[in-house]
Amino acid sequence: MKREIKNKMEIADKLNSLLSNYEMYYQNLRALHWNIRGRMFFMLHEKYEELYNEAAEVIDEIAERVLMLEETPLHTYEDFIKNSFIPAVKNVTNTNESLDIVLSNQEVLLENAFAANDLASESGDEGSVAMLSEIISSLEKGIWMLKASKE
Ligand SMILES: [Fe+2]
Repeated sequence: MKREIKNKMEIADKLNSLLSNYEMYYQNLRALHWNIRGRMFFMLHEKYEELYNEAAEVIDEIAERVLMLEETPLHTYEDFIKNSFIPAVKNVTNTNESLDIVLSNQEVLLENAFAANDLASESGDEGSVAMLSEIISSLEKGIWMLKASKE
């Protein structure tokens, strides 16, 4: 018997919400990469670049999963802003403030990823679950590292 994924549209909605939050997070990291100042500049400038490159890959994975569920990934800034909880970072140059922002952004992403994973899991969507499990464990690692960096 052919396996059916239930709630495809609802899962795609959750993935589109996660995608939108990731897009905001991505642009925040670019802003911090550019604007950060101070003694930690060299380290954070590089770290934020590494994180936004990782985020770009995750964004692509999520969008392509939405397509596999036969829905359309959100793809405009207008929709990303409307469907996300992560506010845009503006004029942040301070080390501690930037680290707090990245941490709280990642916490929002983690909650979002859990919500999508719960629905995918109860809907028999193993493909989304596999992708989301990787996203969740990578966010958990990132959150631990950011917390460990606090003085
Ligand atoms: Fe750069």
